[in-house]
Amino acid sequence: MSADEDRDATAATPPELETDRELVAIVAVADNGVIGKDGDMPWHIPADLEHFKETTMDHPVIMGRVTYEGILETLGEPLPGRTTVVLTSRNLETPEGAVVAHGLADALEAAETAAREHHDGADRVFVAGGATVYEQLLPAVDRLIVTEVHREPEGDTFFPDWDRETWTETARDEREGFTFAEYVRS
Ligand SMILES: NC(=O)c1ccc[n+]([C@@H]2O[C@H](COP(=O)([O-])OP(=O)(O)OC[C@H]3O[C@@H](n4cnc5c(N)ncnc54)[C@H](OP(=O)(O)O)[C@@H]3O)[C@@H](O)[C@H]2O)c1
Repeated sequence: MSADEDRDATAATPPELETDRELVAIVAVADNGVIGKDGDMPWHIPADLEHFKETTMDHPVIMGRVTYEGILETLGEPLPGRTTVVLTSRNLETPEGAVVAHGLADALEAAETAAREHHDGADRVFVAGGATVYEQLLPAVDRLIVTEVHREPEGDTFFPDWDRETWTETARDEREGFTFAEYVRS
């Protein structure tokens, strides 16, 4: 998608972003839409981190360079057990477990290759943010796995607007202070 194209973030998949796998966005979003602050998440919810880990384990995970660098800072390595596809315009050197992609179509292709070669043909590719990546890939996303964090924190990064009427809720698991929810396109 060209950066200047004005596209409805919930519109149908653009042909260049078609993929054989189920494309799944996974996000934790506060009631006020905040997903990040100062390059990090504005909360620490261990159960959500565990949920992210269990859900994405042994799959390719596409993310933006800022999110990737945040994970490297925290873990000292890319997400273990997954292939991280890092979207960037830079010529980044990546350790084992991460590959660089310079555009969306490249990222989807790299994720499909990783699914085939490293994850036993995994049928899902995850989109793990940040905001710039959700925004660009949402038109191609088939499923949203959302942790709805019932707080209104200050932040500088927001999940893009999405038209809930074009999505159907398929799961809802209420926890203390947050909800695990899933949506598929109606
Ligand atoms: N709550 C959650 O679930 C969640 C999930 C993920 C992230 N976050 C938070 O979100 C924040 C980061 O999000 P962000 O939107 O600022 O940054 P981001 O999306 O993680 O990364 C942005 C960078 O990705 C690269 N990029 C994006 N699209 C590209 C494309 N089409 N082609 C090439 N490169 C592309 C560019 O890197 P270059 O500048 O290198 O070209 C761009 O500067 C952090 O606070 C993080 O903690 C929250």
